[in-house]
Amino acid sequence: MKVLVTGAAGFIGSNLVHLLVRERPNWKITALDLLTYAGNLKNIGSLLEEERVSFARVDITDAAAIGDLFSREKFDLVFHLAAESHVDRSIMSSLEFVNTNVLGTQVLLDAALKSKVERFVHISTDEVYGSLGSTGYFYETTPLDPTSPYAASKAASDLMVLAFCKTHKFNASVTRCTNNFGPYHFPEKLIPLFITNAMEGKKLPLYGDGMNVRSWLYVTDHCEALLRVAERGRAGEVYNIGGGADAELPNRDVTFAILDMLGKSRDLIQPVGDRPAHDRRYAIDHSKITQELGWQPSTPFRKGLETTVAWYQSNRSWWEEIKSGAYRSYYERNYANRG
Ligand code: NAD
Ligand code: DAU
Repeated sequence: MKVLVTGAAGFIGSNLVHLLVRERPNWKITALDLLTYAGNLKNIGSLLEEERVSFARVDITDAAAIGDLFSREKFDLVFHLAAESHVDRSIMSSLEFVNTNVLGTQVLLDAALKSKVERFVHISTDEVYGSLGSTGYFYETTPLDPTSPYAASKAASDLMVLAFCKTHKFNASVTRCTNNFGPYHFPEKLIPLFITNAMEGKKLPLYGDGMNVRSWLYVTDHCEALLRVAERGRAGEVYNIGGGADAELPNRDVTFAILDMLGKSRDLIQPVGDRPAHDRRYAIDHSKITQELGWQPSTPFRKGLETTVAWYQSNRSWWEEIKSGAYRSYYERNYANRG
């Protein structure tokens, strides 16, 4: 089986490559990534020593390069994760989001169709559904109502994949997952930013009233769901993926949990101006994937958070290197006018 993982040097992509190498010893894996600011070859470095894992530095928007790769390799299965993934960056500038997330997906679909890829899994997000009030859940049938440029670009890419399924009888599924956390998470996102800032004794910039709710899923649980969808999911179907009831938490409580685990004072919390159009609550109903494919989350939130905190404590050089580079100018721009 020849498998392509796009976005393989990013957070979820790298965790997926680790899982596939562990759980599918006969698969030959091509790990593709452009290595943007968010991609880090160290995330999969040790795996590249294996003969059956190779790395390709390719831009998914480069139709010629992608076409060549697909016609040469004749992949059986594609996991498509490459994307611009950070909401705050999409608010500062959205062109790259449309380019990578929409055009890049379409380029991959064209190449996959032409080279007769058997199965394609498009990794999307619950953010395409927009924002919930204090009750209710996102279902696969919930209308798309994205509020950020990031979410809009992901919704557009989902629709392109589903249109290929209808028009070309293409064998693809779309997955929509809640917020992930775990090792190799880039420290611009809430959990790794707050863990590393707290470890450095820096302030934790909590947006708005801190009561926006996210539903968290440990990244390995997400990757296991993706494998199930790849192997047993149905063409043209959307699968919601999400955490357990214990994982639906206001940002304030996640922040308290991080500070408590690190033995740090709550005085480090700094309330700052809110994210524009900040989605109030995400909560997903994942009963379809549970009933059809037998998947459910297995890592309790607190256990996953302890493992994650321990990983950032043991891998200080990984995140210190990131935070000392170009990341600093992004950080200053994003947090400059929040008060
Ligand atoms: P990430 O930002 O950590 O990784 C994205 C990877 O894509 C990076 O390695 C980057 O170098 C690569 N990339 C970007 N542009 C590229 C291009 N033009 N060509 C090739 N590679 C390119 O993101 P992530 O958090 O790992 O998310 C992966 C996917 O999962 C995304 O599609 C995202 O929308 C989706 N998702 C993420 C979450 C989450 O909580 N992180 C939840 C649900 C869905
Ligand atoms: O729901 C899935 C989505 O989860 C994915 O599609 C995205 O790729 C991923 O980035 C994530 O989006 P969020 O916007 O929910 O994640 P983020 O970590 O940026 O923010 C989580 C919550 O924390 C959100 O309510 C905003 C808040 N926040 C975030 C940052 C970076 C803060 O209060 N302060 C911060 O500094």
